Amino acid sequence: MPQTPISLLPMQRTDIEAAVELIRKSMNGIEARFAHKTMDFHFGCLDHGLNDGREYYLYRREGRILGLVGLHNYIWGPRENVWLTWFCVHPELQGQGLGTTLLSAAETMAKKLDYRKFFIETYDMPDFARARAFYEKRGYTRSGTIDNYLPNRAGMVVYLKLLQ
Ligand SMILES: CC(C)(COP(=O)(O)OP(=O)(O)OC[C@H]1O[C@@H](n2cnc3c(N)ncnc32)[C@H](O)[C@@H]1OP(=O)(O)O)[C@@H](O)C(=O)NCCC(=O)NCCS
Repeated sequence: MPQTPISLLPMQRTDIEAAVELIRKSMNGIEARFAHKTMDFHFGCLDHGLNDGREYYLYRREGRILGLVGLHNYIWGPRENVWLTWFCVHPELQGQGLGTTLLSAAETMAKKLDYRKFFIETYDMPDFARARAFYEKRGYTRSGTIDNYLPNRAGMVVYLKLLQ
């Protein structure tokens, strides 16, 4: 499907509940709880003038949040590294090309911010099989696995794309 440019808007504190609901619908309740904590932490840091290395962007249509993508630089790690976070598309729209467009927009954003290595954390459980295939088809290389990472014993799978 041809990609059309979309505009991503920076997420605001008032978007937290809707963004978490999108994560619950598209992933699961456990991920939604983790997301709620990190988003509360992020906006709390901003209140105190602190940089937590995180940015979140939303795709909206007619006021509804239909896509979410985040970038996270571990501020204690290399400046050139960035991780994709909470990447999801509303279930009603999955499989129509929006995820491809969002990921490409996130890569463009990451390049503008001078990141050079784009990492993705995902998991080896069946829920994420389509996501893994999605990343592999879009030029990401599986660069590592950490066994028994999640409380349910699922392993973390890391993908990497070098940004040029
Ligand atoms: C992964 C995700 C963001 C992709 O978004 P999308 O809008 O479905 O992506 P696209 O339509 O551009 O591409 C869909 C492709 O991914 C595959 N795919 C992956 N998950 C899919 C899903 N849940 N529904 C439909 N297609 C899916 C399709 O088979 C298609 O294959 P292709 O690579 O041969 O083109 C989206 O499916 C999603 O939100 N999944 C649940 C949350 C998730 O797993 N996020 C990633 C966390 S690491």
